[in-house]
Parts: sequence; C-alpha cells; structure tokens
Amino acid sequence: MSCLLRAEAISKTYDTHMGWFRKHSQVALHNVSFELHEGKSLAVMGNNGSGKSTLAAIIAGAIAPTSGELFFQGTKLLSGDFKNRAQNIRMVFQDSEASLNPHKTIGKQLHEALWFNTKLTLTQRNDLITSTLLRVGLLDEHRVFYPYMMSNGQRQRACIARAIILNPKVLVADEALANLDTSVRAQILNLLLDLQDDFKMSYIFITHSPEIAHHMADHVLVLKDGAVESYSLTTTAIEK
Ligand SMILES: Nc1ncnc2c1ncn2[C@@H]1O[C@H](COP(=O)(O)OP(=O)(O)O)[C@@H](O)[C@H]1O
Ligand SMILES: [Mg+2]
Repeated sequence: MSCLLRAEAISKTYDTHMGWFRKHSQVALHNVSFELHEGKSLAVMGNNGSGKSTLAAIIAGAIAPTSGELFFQGTKLLSGDFKNRAQNIRMVFQDSEASLNPHKTIGKQLHEALWFNTKLTLTQRNDLITSTLLRVGLLDEHRVFYPYMMSNGQRQRACIARAIILNPKVLVADEALANLDTSVRAQILNLLLDLQDDFKMSYIFITHSPEIAHHMADHVLVLKDGAVESYSLTTTAIEK
C-alpha cells in the first residue's frame, strides 16, 4: 500500500496578542507525525483542546504549521499550494449550518466548488451535481434549497456532496457526526463508509467515540495536549 499523506513533526503555536506588549503563546501541536495510506482511515482522538481541529486545519491548508512538513504523494505540500490541495484534500465539519453559505442554494455552492477547481462545462457541472446529490442520499430538487430549508442530516449530506464532488483522495471529517441524532449518525457513518469504498478515498476521522474509531479506522492517533499520546493499529485493521 502506498503512502498518500505523511506528516512529519508538525507543530503549531498560536500567538495571541493581548494589548500592545503582552503576547500569549499557546502550543496547540507538538511534533505530530503519522502516515495515511491509500484507501485507509486514520482516526484522531483526544480531549477537547488537544489539537485535533488544528491538525485538520493544517492538513487542509487552512492554516500553516509553525514547523514540520506535510507530504502528499511524496511531494512536499507548500502553504501556498491551495488549488492542488483543495481538490485532493476536502473537509467536512461538525457544524453543517456554519460551514455552508446561508445566502446561497446548495446547487450554487456545488457549482462554485466545481467552477473554482475544474474546467468542466455548465452541462457537465449540472450532471455531476445531480449524480452527487443522489449519491449522498439527497434529491436533485435539493439543489434549489437554501441550507435553512434542510434538516441537520440533509445539510451534512450536502456538505459531504461538496467535499466528494471533486473526487478527492483524502477526506478530513472533523467530528462530522457529533451534531447528529443517533439514527441519523448511523446513516451518515454508513454513507461515509460506502463512499470510501466507491471513491477509494482515505479518511482522517476526528471523533470522540472509541467505537467509531475502532470500527472504521485502520490506525488511531490519540492526541494529548498537542502531543501524540499513542499511535496504533486498530483490531479491525489487524483482523482484515
Ligand atoms: N485560532 C486560535 N488562536 C489561539 N488559540 C487557539 C486557536 N485555535 C485553537 N487554539 C488553542 O489550541 C489548542 C488546540 O485547539 P483545537 O485544535 O481546537 O483542539 P480540539 O479540536 O482537539 O478541541 C487549544 O488550547 C485551543 O484553545
Ligand atoms: Mg475540535
């Protein structure tokens, strides 16, 4: 199995300025390394404030690490390399309402993802939007819906559609199931597992649930105060 994404000694310190002279430094990540292989899943666990979302944001290129390096398919990812990263590494967040634009229909937001990242024609974009909406368990009619017109679960499906429509190699899910009711949570988890099979994606799955981590992931990375507490194979992976 080839290594898709490799993180080498990623560290991140947030500097918060408190007035003119006072500065507060918060170490959010310290020397975090891992490897993600093609088609495999890495679960990331840890208490609140342990650095999970910071790690996700660095992988997605939303923020730069203070030190350390990321390699994608063997090539070093540079902080300015947004386009390549936006296509290949996509994120789904916990709060689907906050991560969608409230003023634009779902169809418009999917069009934009394609417009910014591909050279597809309008017809090709429309066709791909239809098939992606159906693939995530929505209807074609949902393209004219605004986020507020949808349930939490439907909105999360729309976020998943926006993430997978570019056929990414890596999907980073930051507590993507946490805001959902139990029954919807199981449906969305199954959807993500099906999509991983179909699209041959690798997942970085941030979760508070040891059951979910061990059920779906091959490796579990546990963070504590920004450092790696443990990094191990799951029993699911060993049994495979
Ligand atoms: N933008 C920011 N500015 C300053 N500190 C931050 C910022 N984002 C996160 N932190 C701090 O970094 C640490 C890790 O946060 P985070 O990555 O959100 O952890 P988790 O997702 O595991 O809850 C926390 O102490 C948090 O307060
Ligand atoms: Mg978080």
